[in-house]
Amino acid sequence: MPLIQWNNDLYSVKIESIDKHHQTLISLINQLHEAMREGNAKEIMDGILHELNDYTIYHFNAEEDLMRSHNYPMEEYTFHKEQHEEFKFKLSELVEKYQNEEILISIETSKFLKEWLVNHIQKVDKKIAGIINY
Ligand SMILES: [Fe+2]
Ligand SMILES: [Fe+2]
Repeated sequence: MPLIQWNNDLYSVKIESIDKHHQTLISLINQLHEAMREGNAKEIMDGILHELNDYTIYHFNAEEDLMRSHNYPMEEYTFHKEQHEEFKFKLSELVEKYQNEEILISIETSKFLKEWLVNHIQKVDKKIAGIINY
């Protein structure tokens, strides 16, 4: 069973493109978790981590563009962007530390990624649909 299973009722933000992005992020976190459990080679883990890092940046930019183009309330936008910046920082730090062999990817790593994403989708991303009114 994958670490995170897509569930429309729990995770859909009612915007198709954003849901697709979230499904891709979930799939990458699941891949990382599986690779860690199976003890895959460092190159494989490195590849998944880089993809996760790049896709996260791409996705956050897309959400921020969407909010800006719909005149999202400034306070909400700033808060949302701050959450993204914080996670981007943590993720890039993780990738760097793993590359420099300062840390290993563990269950705690998968759990952290899972909890951050699920929590962010449910508490912050879901507000987007309500405000831009798709
Ligand atoms: Fe998102
Ligand atoms: Fe977001």
